[in-house]
Amino acid sequence: MSPLSEIIRREAAQRGVLSFARFMELALYCPVHGYYETKKDNPGRHGDFYTSVGVGELFGQLLAFQFAEWLETLNPQPSTFNLVEAGAHDGRLAKDILAWLQLNRPELLDQIEYWIIEPSARRQEWQGETLREFAPRVRWFAGFQSLLQERTCHSSPATRHPPLRGVIFSNELLDAMPVHRFGWDAQNKKWFEWGVAVDGEKFVWAKIQTPDARPQTPDPGLLAVLPDGYTIETCPAAESWWREAANILGHGKLLTIDYGYTADELFSPGRTRGTLRAYFRHHAGDDILANVGEQDLTAHVNFSAIQAAGESVGLRTEMFSTQSQFLTGILEKASKDNFLGEWTPAQARQFQTLTHPEHLGRAFRVLVQSR
Ligand SMILES: C[S@@+](CC[C@H](N)C(=O)[O-])C[C@H]1O[C@@H](n2cnc3c(N)ncnc32)[C@H](O)[C@@H]1O
Repeated sequence: MSPLSEIIRREAAQRGVLSFARFMELALYCPVHGYYETKKDNPGRHGDFYTSVGVGELFGQLLAFQFAEWLETLNPQPSTFNLVEAGAHDGRLAKDILAWLQLNRPELLDQIEYWIIEPSARRQEWQGETLREFAPRVRWFAGFQSLLQERTCHSSPATRHPPLRGVIFSNELLDAMPVHRFGWDAQNKKWFEWGVAVDGEKFVWAKIQTPDARPQTPDPGLLAVLPDGYTIETCPAAESWWREAANILGHGKLLTIDYGYTADELFSPGRTRGTLRAYFRHHAGDDILANVGEQDLTAHVNFSAIQAAGESVGLRTEMFSTQSQFLTGILEKASKDNFLGEWTPAQARQFQTLTHPEHLGRAFRVLVQSR
């Protein structure tokens, strides 16, 4: 067994059965051995998956144009704004955004502090290498709590916790958060949770008959038609992360781009296997419990749940669209601004990949909320 498998095996032996969410958390984020701690080259051609960032710098440039427009409409008093990127991975998106602002909006860039929320110390280091040229402008935080502490330390008692002004955003973060996996027992009309147990050298699925929580179907009548064994995931970690982000946003936008569905789409009776997948060298597989720490694990985001989480703490939903609609909308505005001048064939190709429904245009969705 690998050191990571051994860590999970020990914890499973202590607890009997692990929730799948705990298994996924350890597989992806276990300090030192987790997938995201060891796979520096992901995403990319030599990794296990592509993201929009890997398509080229155009994705970051379009986002930078949109962020600049949003920031310019905020009241410029006091004079600093925050761009807060969560889950910056290898730092390339940050670099593309900052490079575009430097070239096209230098005065605005002078007012921006670029903050990265990244729990992995090793990833922070890798991101720092990518962002060396922007070093004085970029700061790292392990989570919202450390960011809040920092803001409290540097503010006068009268302005403790000054609200953050700017844009908090993430690309493919929520779909990498640990999910709980449930199965439908049609005979007994109840949900059970899929946990993980150890069988010799292998991890195996094990039923937890009385789970702590259950999936919320958008229409209770749906339960009458779900087939036996119907599988679905929930991600309370993503919902509470979003609520936390919403709570520190005083004035501005909260945006995420992820694979995902609305609750109605997610609970389609036809999709019986759920959306949880393992990615290994660009192949999606169902052998979720194999190759621990060697393969990426991801599940589609329930955007209705995320939207509701933001609205529950006072955010207004401004947009929920496909990546294609979102980026095309930005390009239309940007073209009037002579955004990139003459397009090179490479830029045209990047735009096609980012927006074509058969590539990344339809599967990725964009949620924008504001306060
Ligand atoms: C799939 S990658 C994101 C891809 C990247 N944004 C891109 O566009 O290429 C997930 C990233 O989120 C980080 N991460 C995981 N949990 C996090 C959390 N709670 N807050 C912020 N970042 C997190 C991981 O360390 C990793 O850098």
